[in-house]
Amino acid sequence: MRRISEREARSIVVEDVHKDFKLRHTHSIKETFVAAVRRKPLTTDFHALDGISFEITEGESVALLGFNGSGKSTTLKLLSGVLQPDRGSVLTRGRVAGLIEVGAGFHPDLSGRENIFLNAAILGMSKAETEARYDDIVAFSEIEKFIDTEVKHYSSGMFLRLAFSVAIHTEVDILLIDEILSVGDEPFQKKCLARIRELHDAGKTLVVVSHDLDMVSKLCDRGILLRDGKVAFDGASDEAVAMMRR
Ligand SMILES: Nc1ncnc2c1ncn2[C@@H]1O[C@H](COP(=O)(O)OP(=O)(O)OP(=O)(O)O)[C@@H](O)[C@H]1O
Ligand SMILES: [Mg+2]
Repeated sequence: MRRISEREARSIVVEDVHKDFKLRHTHSIKETFVAAVRRKPLTTDFHALDGISFEITEGESVALLGFNGSGKSTTLKLLSGVLQPDRGSVLTRGRVAGLIEVGAGFHPDLSGRENIFLNAAILGMSKAETEARYDDIVAFSEIEKFIDTEVKHYSSGMFLRLAFSVAIHTEVDILLIDEILSVGDEPFQKKCLARIRELHDAGKTLVVVSHDLDMVSKLCDRGILLRDGKVAFDGASDEAVAMMRR
């Protein structure tokens, strides 16, 4: 495992972060009315993240592990800025690109071509920069034939291909990936993993969520295991994976 020296810059700092969601207890107007009259709570707070803290150093590759509903995607959304914490703080350094939900960041009525420019702009690229890399983006995605089709007709795998291609052709410092690689076919997954390794070798910070435990223990040095919205383990990725399987 790579040693973290004091001199290396911190890339992500998450400090005592809490995120609550409301759980509804009524499902009809009548029930809501009856509950309100009886002064029963209509919702209760659910602690999706219950005080998590960790720091990630520049160039680390970290797997975020845990069972369904343990808070992994919520954590990535906080890192990407899509969500704000209720308490605590989230700091990131540099440009962050998130591949978090299939189709997120795409406009359904625009073509693949238009969405490349839209996505790249969201990631902080100018029109000229995007134009210069446009051919590479399309070539990597291998969906040239459909590039002028509205993306609402795209399959999950085609969304992934376009989103991934745009993200890796931008100047990112932190790349967040949530499970979406699993909708890609095997050849494309392999190609993505090779590219992710290259980015890691180039010193980018990676945070990867996946239920493919063998893949993440190979790809990542470090594993953070979430359980019921808390950090249950933070250490070597193979140890984190072993704990998941216990
Ligand atoms: N917008 C929301 N509104 C209400 N509850 C939510 C919301 N987003 C997440 N949750 C809840 O927070 C908990 C954590 O969700 P999260 O998506 O972070 O889990 P996860 O670890 O990514 O799980 P999975 O492995 O299934 O992807 C879940 O119980 C989920 O129902
Ligand atoms: Mg998730």
